[in-house]
Amino acid sequence: MLFNLILFGPPGSGKGTQSQLIIDHYQFTHLSTGDMLRSEIERRTPLGLEAKKFMDRGALVPDEVVIAMISSRLDASTGTKGFIFDGFPRTTAQARALDKLLALKSTAIHLVLLMEVPEEELIKRLLLRGQTSGRSDDASEEIIRTRIAEYYNKTSPVADYYAQQHKLQAIQAVGTVEEVFNRIRQQIDKRFAELTSHPVSP
Ligand code: AP5
Repeated sequence: MLFNLILFGPPGSGKGTQSQLIIDHYQFTHLSTGDMLRSEIERRTPLGLEAKKFMDRGALVPDEVVIAMISSRLDASTGTKGFIFDGFPRTTAQARALDKLLALKSTAIHLVLLMEVPEEELIKRLLLRGQTSGRSDDASEEIIRTRIAEYYNKTSPVADYYAQQHKLQAIQAVGTVEEVFNRIRQQIDKRFAELTSHPVSP
């Protein structure tokens, strides 16, 4: 079966960092809308130039843009063990669209991990990363605070959508990267065991 996981959490909570460890361990396919958008910006495509206007000020890119990107990546992916969605969905409209896209592939979301980190720690991490990453949205504390506000206003309500489906699991995402990964691994293994001993449809 495909195992589909969402890494959910505010900017700087470690979604990208943990995605790399999960891929190495489980060989899942990583779908990060932030990485896809930054690649479009680097290639100076019309989509990238439009998205940059939103990203540079810490705002969300319109739903239809990111939904279309995810849709084409899902269509292009074959022979994978599962997907990690990193930074997607970020609105309830995106979550509903994702359910429909996965249903077309006769699959669904199996687990949503909510990465919990105190706000001051998020700001500290992103200001530190901004010194070396060159990411324009890490350039100032003001932009970082806007991104965090976007998360609490528009994205965190999506957690309720998955909580109602009993798919949401909180992860304490502070401590060393390895400690956080061990907590994530326990949750993935537990969910996978539940699904394979009591198969659910889909
Ligand atoms: P995106 O690229 O998704 O960025 P983000 O959600 O803001 O998250 P980050 O990449 O900043 O953080 P992360 O949680 O991945 O943490 P990381 O592992 O890097 O989105 C960027 C923008 O694109 C959005 O603002 C929006 O404009 C647009 N966008 C993207 N998707 C969209 C969508 N679906 N809809 C609309 N717009 C969309 O870690 C952060 C730092 O902390 C690193 O330096 C890392 O080394 C460090 N770190 C990690 N773990 C630890 C630890 N345990 N202890 C100490 N430091 C740690």
